Amino acid sequence: MPAPLIDDDALDDLERELLGRVRGRVLEIGAGDGANFGAWHPDVEWIGLEPDATRRAELATRAREWRHPRAPLDAVAESIPLPDASVDAVVGTYVLCSVTDLEGVLAEARRVLVPGGRIVFVDHVIAPPRTFTRLVQRVATPVTRRVCHGCHWDRDPEPAFAAAGFVADDVQRVRVRTTPFPAEPILLFDGHAAARGD
Ligand SMILES: C[S@@+](CC[C@H](N)C(=O)[O-])C[C@H]1O[C@@H](n2cnc3c(N)ncnc32)[C@H](O)[C@@H]1O
Repeated sequence: MPAPLIDDDALDDLERELLGRVRGRVLEIGAGDGANFGAWHPDVEWIGLEPDATRRAELATRAREWRHPRAPLDAVAESIPLPDASVDAVVGTYVLCSVTDLEGVLAEARRVLVPGGRIVFVDHVIAPPRTFTRLVQRVATPVTRRVCHGCHWDRDPEPAFAAAGFVADDVQRVRVRTTPFPAEPILLFDGHAAARGD
C-alpha cells in the first residue's frame, strides 16, 4: 500500500512533533540556517553543526535569538568534534541526502551518543521500485548532486540505521505533494542506539 499523501503543512507538523520528542544535549547535524529552532523542547541544550560558512553565520545569529548560547560547530558530520558519549540525541533534517559518507556519519553519531541515546532523522528518500517517481529521482540525481550541495534524490538511509547499530522505535513514511514533480517520499525515523538485549 502506498504511503499516505500529505501536504507541506502536514509534513511540518509531523517534523515538529518528532523533533519535539528529544531532550537533554541535542546535536543537530547539517542544521542549515536554523529552520528547526521552533521545534525544540525548552529543556534542550542545543549544539548545532554546519559546514557551510554562510549558513553557519546565519545559524549562529538565529541560535542567539532563540537563546541557545553555544556557537555552531564548523565541521562535517563525518568527523564530529565532540567527545565519545557526550550527547543524548543526534538529529538531522534533510541532511543525510547530502552527506558524502552516510555510514561514516552514522558511525560518528553512534560514537558521540550516550549508551541508548536517540537519533531522529527526517529526509526525502527514493521511491519504491518500478515507479515513475523513482525513475525521475534516478535521472535527476547526477544534476542535484552538482547544483543542490550534494543532494541525492536516490537514497534511503533506513537500512543504514540498522547496520550502524540503531533500533527503530517509530518509523513513518509519507508522500508529499511537490508540483510539478511527482509526490516525494519522506522518511521520519525515531530510534535509539542499540544496547545488549535490544
Ligand atoms: C538541505 S540542507 C538542510 C538544512 C536544515 N537541516 C533544514 O532542514 O532546513 C542540508 C544541509 O546539510 C549540510 N551538509 C552538507 N554536507 C554535510 C556533511 N557532510 N555534514 C554535515 N552537514 C552537511 C549543508 O551545508 C546544508 O546546510
